[in-house]
Amino acid sequence: MEKKSKYNLAVVGVGVVGIEMIRCLKRRNFPIDTLKIFARSSRDIEVDGQEYQVKTISEDGFKGIDIALFAGTEGEKGAAATFAKAAVKHGVIVIDNGADFRMDSNVPLVVPEVNAKDIKKHKGIIANPNCSTIQMVVALWPIYKKAGIKRVIVTTLQASSGAGKSAVEQLNREISEISSANYKSLQTNVEKSMPQQLAYNVFPQIGGFAEADFTSEEWKMVKETHKIMGDKKIKVSATTVRVPVRTGHSESVYIETKKPIAPEAVKTLLSKSAGIIVIDEPKKGLYPMPKDVEGKYEVFVGRIRKDPFVKNGIWLWVVADNLLKGAALNAVQIAEYLIAK
Ligand SMILES: NC(=O)c1ccc[n+]([C@@H]2O[C@H](COP(=O)([O-])OP(=O)(O)OC[C@H]3O[C@@H](n4cnc5c(N)ncnc54)[C@H](OP(=O)(O)O)[C@@H]3O)[C@@H](O)[C@H]2O)c1
Repeated sequence: MEKKSKYNLAVVGVGVVGIEMIRCLKRRNFPIDTLKIFARSSRDIEVDGQEYQVKTISEDGFKGIDIALFAGTEGEKGAAATFAKAAVKHGVIVIDNGADFRMDSNVPLVVPEVNAKDIKKHKGIIANPNCSTIQMVVALWPIYKKAGIKRVIVTTLQASSGAGKSAVEQLNREISEISSANYKSLQTNVEKSMPQQLAYNVFPQIGGFAEADFTSEEWKMVKETHKIMGDKKIKVSATTVRVPVRTGHSESVYIETKKPIAPEAVKTLLSKSAGIIVIDEPKKGLYPMPKDVEGKYEVFVGRIRKDPFVKNGIWLWVVADNLLKGAALNAVQIAEYLIAK
């Protein structure tokens, strides 16, 4: 991409991720000449007191844009499937948040702390991984480099905002209905965009059920981890669970390293690693929690401990803001790498 002092940007989608992209670009002083914002329909929106005009997405709208950050709905009729390749034809570099291009061999799948080097291989589209994968690989990568990793077993506890603004609205409506009925029943009749009730509930289903009875989200964690870390031999098994948290995914991660590494060494290593904050004084009640990480850029790790039964088995508790490091921030970091080259 041609080096400029300021760039023409587009953000596609003004759902929970798109809004955070607009915030991240502003807060990180991304050098912007013009910023176009697209969604399915036009409207004016306000983000942190500033008004923005949202335009209806069209192929022609991408003319003159240098970088487009896509945060529209994924899938066949979604923004990226419909418009990403057309934008690339106009010379745009697309950074896509959805799953449409993640496993395409021509598309780098990037978490800058892990594989920033892959950015330069792009042919117009760069993919942002799934939110739960991003925070896990940020925590795993320094350990992988130091001691190797042969096994990962992860259980995620994923916030409602991970499923977009309709899920956040469902959670709010359910909480409000149940509390206004004075908790006489925990069942609600509000319209659902999610497969189950979110409020006062957890459910072990994110995405549809797929091969070997794992969900699509669970397979994303396997395949994306292999692609980002460049090692298909790591045995990754996931259980992905939706919990009634607004924002901030938590993950209980068990790993088996190839070489022995003491929990204290893991703590020191992660404390020095880019994008990670270790909070690990459990006896003082200090460990990462989603309510504390909302709005933060880093991946937070705590409860680092040795498995008492398995040689080289280590447990971690990993928490991050799914809308920031899990989506918008990661995309903006990729854009920052693009313009730094
Ligand atoms: N939420 C997360 O934590 C998270 C994390 C990682 C990745 N992602 C991915 O990021 C993307 C956005 O997620 P989200 O949670 O922000 O969703 P969301 O809250 O449901 O918002 C979706 C936005 O996309 C727009 N949109 C949908 N179809 C479009 C189309 N064909 N053309 C243009 N705009 C379109 C919608 O436009 P209107 O406003 O006009 O309806 C809306 O503004 C998804 O691909 C999701 O999988 C989300």
